[in-house]
Amino acid sequence: MDKFRIIGGRPLEGRIQISGAKNSALPCMAAALLTSETVTLHNLPYARDIITMRRLLEDLGCHILMPELRTLKISGAQVEVFEAPYELVKTMRASVLALGPLLARFGEARVSLPGGCAIGQRPIDLHLAGFEKLGAAVEIEGGDVVARSKRLQGREIYFDKVSVTGTENLMMAAALADGVTVLTNAAREPEIVDLAELLNKMGARVEGAGRSTIRIEGVNKLGGAEHTIIPDRIETGTFAVAAAITGGDLELVNCNPQHIAAVLDKLEETGVRIDRPNAFSLRVVAADQTRCSDVTTLPHPGFPTDMQAQYMALMTVGDGVSVITETIFENRFMHASELLRMGARIRLNGRQAVVEGNKELSGARVQASDLRASASLVLAGLAARGETIVDRVYHIDRGYEKIEEKLRAVGANIERFRE
Ligand code: EPZ
Repeated sequence: MDKFRIIGGRPLEGRIQISGAKNSALPCMAAALLTSETVTLHNLPYARDIITMRRLLEDLGCHILMPELRTLKISGAQVEVFEAPYELVKTMRASVLALGPLLARFGEARVSLPGGCAIGQRPIDLHLAGFEKLGAAVEIEGGDVVARSKRLQGREIYFDKVSVTGTENLMMAAALADGVTVLTNAAREPEIVDLAELLNKMGARVEGAGRSTIRIEGVNKLGGAEHTIIPDRIETGTFAVAAAITGGDLELVNCNPQHIAAVLDKLEETGVRIDRPNAFSLRVVAADQTRCSDVTTLPHPGFPTDMQAQYMALMTVGDGVSVITETIFENRFMHASELLRMGARIRLNGRQAVVEGNKELSGARVQASDLRASASLVLAGLAARGETIVDRVYHIDRGYEKIEEKLRAVGANIERFRE
């Protein structure tokens, strides 16, 4: 099992290239199931979840070529299996994104119900209720969701809760439905906009992506397209915190500052200086002394839940006290107990964490529980005095492309090893 060894205390300085967004790449790859023609995607991150999604699509019958690193050509011409098996879905919940396209194009889909994960129960009831609204028969059989429909009918669908993959699944299903579908209380994340752009290049008629009401006029057939995935806003935010927590000065290129306005505003509140020289790069200069500032996670354009763990790491070395409120997932403070082992002072109370900043963390053996928690522990290790060993780094490999190489290139003392 791979681990990271980090010797903290070195300010990070230099330039980091941001990779493509994992959470846009996954729905865009699934969208290739909607057509028998070839969908070419560029700027894919070289991360484990992308490899898992590729395996799922190939198991369904897609032919996939990788003419160069970070580009995939996906052809759904020979898709003949409409089933996403448990062993794949349990390793990556985003496999549920195969449901909408398979149902819309073939009239049937069987996907193993994703179990919960470290950050919460994470049901998909809103996805399934949406498919039923479009006229599908949805059953649970032996732990699988089985959805069938002769022809989906466009409908008005209201989401009781804002759901990113729920919005994406229904957008893809509605693209081939008969008539117009209107999604209300839809998610507004940049990844939704990116998927809508790809769908429209394929011949779909999606309007309003990025706002909370999205209108999709169904068409009979979708074609191939070529698309470049947007930069990863969470990777961008993670490295911005890396600059802040190490007292460093980083230039982040190939990013989109507008996608993480809430994170940048919050970091500026803590004293970080953010320069925005142009629309695709950032310069992040650490404060002399980080000030503590409260934060509440919200659906986009609010402060993203996927940045909460990283922000908590920064607050542990801030001056003062901060209250972190997690409103999206019911159990997303797993990183707190590991940060305590490094000397952080954090009190948990349901959805709130009270962090009392102290001057210094000390290195320790810590264990990652999920993707963003592991990023948080790496950030803490970069700031801590002494040696930190982060265990189970396969979590971080799911969503970050070679994070230790990118960090080493800007001065971090971090190495991957196997025990
Ligand atoms: C997406 O997950 C992201 N994953 C997550 O990123 C991200 O944390 C999350 O959105 C919130 O922004 C991908 O895009 C692949 P939700 P998703 O449906 O779609 C509840 C990462 O680190 N809910 O927006 O699964 C749910 O339990 C990952 O990259 C229902 O109750 O999240 C949660 O409390 C982690 N019923 C809330 O809604 C449903 O049918 C938001 O979940 C669906 C969701």
